[in-house]
Amino acid sequence: MKILVIGSGGREHALAWRLAQSPRTSKIFVSPGNAGTFLEDSIENVPLHEIEDLIKFAISENIDMTIVGPEAPLSEGIVDAFKARELMIFGPVAAAAQLESSKDFAKQFMSNHNIPTAEYSTFTEPNEAHNYISAKGAPIVVKADGLAAGKGVVVAMTELEAHEAIDMMLVDNGMGVAGAKVVIEDFLVGEEASFIVMIDGEHVLPLATSQDHKRLLNNDQGPNTGGMGAYSPAPVVTPELHAKVMKEVIKPVLNGMKDAGTPFVGFLYAGLMIASDQTIKVLEFNCRLGDPETQPIMMRLKSDLVTLVEHALMGTLNKVESSWDLRTALGIVLAAKGYPQSPRKGDVVIIPPQDNADVHVFHAGTALIDNQLVTNGGRVLCVTALGENAIKARDLALETSDRISFADKQYRTDIGYRATKN
Ligand code: AMP
Ligand code: GLY
Repeated sequence: MKILVIGSGGREHALAWRLAQSPRTSKIFVSPGNAGTFLEDSIENVPLHEIEDLIKFAISENIDMTIVGPEAPLSEGIVDAFKARELMIFGPVAAAAQLESSKDFAKQFMSNHNIPTAEYSTFTEPNEAHNYISAKGAPIVVKADGLAAGKGVVVAMTELEAHEAIDMMLVDNGMGVAGAKVVIEDFLVGEEASFIVMIDGEHVLPLATSQDHKRLLNNDQGPNTGGMGAYSPAPVVTPELHAKVMKEVIKPVLNGMKDAGTPFVGFLYAGLMIASDQTIKVLEFNCRLGDPETQPIMMRLKSDLVTLVEHALMGTLNKVESSWDLRTALGIVLAAKGYPQSPRKGDVVIIPPQDNADVHVFHAGTALIDNQLVTNGGRVLCVTALGENAIKARDLALETSDRISFADKQYRTDIGYRATKN
């Protein structure tokens, strides 16, 4: 089989790496990919960006299956466009991808289908938004409606911060069209988990649970980022909680999307807040795999990924099971100087060779310039390791991270701390 993976991050490197191990794969293309996918045997990068160009490529190369990594092409209708040409592609159509591309759509959908989430209201008028904040008080959360690459959420601990966020989004147009509408919601307390499943329109296959770490610095300090590390499994998701999430969140999405005439096909990621009394609330939906959650999840996946995606495309996910390495996988993101505000590019990256099959260095923001590996984005690498427990996985990931060099690399040393406490 020839497979095309769309995207250029650590998530896509991990996906392509796992797909390449399938005995059913003859060739993997990643578009546009990064230096890591370029350097893998049997993976080829294709520098395409437009949906029409990707369609032409899929037709001319006889691609059997395309898998979409990031949210932007999904919201732009890449799946609709591929399907119109009868090309096999795994991901939701744009109408279903609104669960991620519009926070207001997601909140209305949850409200219509009794999916637990924080109480909210949506605004386009700054004065009404300011009045709502004054009435509610802080802490409170302000979210840009549209896609904002992880930068559209302000968790305001004071009313002043919330008012400033409203002015930034609704008055000064600081987030562009993504922030022309805002959702304001109640602040939730608890432990977060990433609950990711595959859906074929009718059936659900849950992937292993995971947890990521959004803040830049140890002890969850510093600014929010796209994710500084992740691990799987997440012990907070007990079997009871798992069943509850399936019943209260995932099944209602599946049924609601079917009823709306836009059955959901693709990876669905529910970002959850789990309170100490085990009640769950959905913080957000993503219509794709998480990054960096995918890196540890792919390290643990033992089933043939090509076969799983094929079942998802055929509507037969009920006929297949997934199997997982019982060990913990843990990924540490090595970020560039200046991340997340203004990451520096062009620093030389040196990764010493290592032959331990329990570690893999997934690339994200890397490029090869004159045969030299250099930083090319905020999150540069995700060093992912397997271990008998979270501590051992982290030790191996840290040891490997220490040996990788580039100027002023930033990384957390406490990834997985909730799982290493006991
Ligand atoms: P989102 O993109 O909506 O998941 O928000 C990004 C991050 O902001 C989440 O991972 C949480 O850490 C935080 N967050 C979002 N919504 C809330 C909320 N209602 N209460 C507390 N924290 C939140
Ligand atoms: N790690 C969070 C995300 O992929 O959105």
